[in-house]
Amino acid sequence: MRKLSIAIDGPAGAGKSSVSKILAARLGYAYLDTGAMYRAVTYEVLSKGIFDEMEIVLMTNKIDMEVKPDKDAMLVFVDGEDVTPFLRTADVSAHVSWVSAMAGVRRAMVKIQRKQAEKGGIVLDGRDIGTTVLPNADVKIFLTASAHTRAIRRCMELAAAGQDVTPEGIEEDIKKRDYQDSHRAVSPLRQADDAVLLDNGDLTLEETADAIISICREKF
Ligand code: C5P
Repeated sequence: MRKLSIAIDGPAGAGKSSVSKILAARLGYAYLDTGAMYRAVTYEVLSKGIFDEMEIVLMTNKIDMEVKPDKDAMLVFVDGEDVTPFLRTADVSAHVSWVSAMAGVRRAMVKIQRKQAEKGGIVLDGRDIGTTVLPNADVKIFLTASAHTRAIRRCMELAAAGQDVTPEGIEEDIKKRDYQDSHRAVSPLRQADDAVLLDNGDLTLEETADAIISICREKF
């Protein structure tokens, strides 16, 4: 199979990043977590207290990533500082949809994402990969599951990372974020017309990755 570009979009907590990591490891591909890029901008906005849209857009110049096939997770830097450990806090999650709705922020992020994907052999996960970032991606998947299932999964992940969370609270948060992401003016969360819809409510992460690899093999 030639080196493909694989776009994985879907709502919060569908397992996109875990599945993308498995796929990248199995295929020897790079993995670009585009949500982490929007989270890094948001982290910086919150820690520096910048609320002016022009200043926020200018700040996107400071974002840099280390994307290597042999790394477990993509590292994100702001002005040379590794901010990867701070990207999944409740505060960043609560504000990221606001920052990611800014047209100038999206323009800057999409430019970096396209550059990273230029050579193929990459899995990108996000909300607008199949519709905007890579409309010609070789394989497009829209990964989803019920809000309840996604909340339980996310809750287990965050609890394992030491955060004090409840499934009910998380379900509210992800529903709110999905609503904001799918109702924004620029590149809203949407299944691309040519994406394969995959509901992984009854699948493990490994089974989800198996299903996506089968789809890749059927096509190529
Ligand atoms: O994937 P993750 O949940 O980390 O994404 C965090 C947020 O970043 C999303 O809720 C969305 O607001 C934004 N995002 C986006 N476009 C992408 C990836 C993420 O707007 N391609």
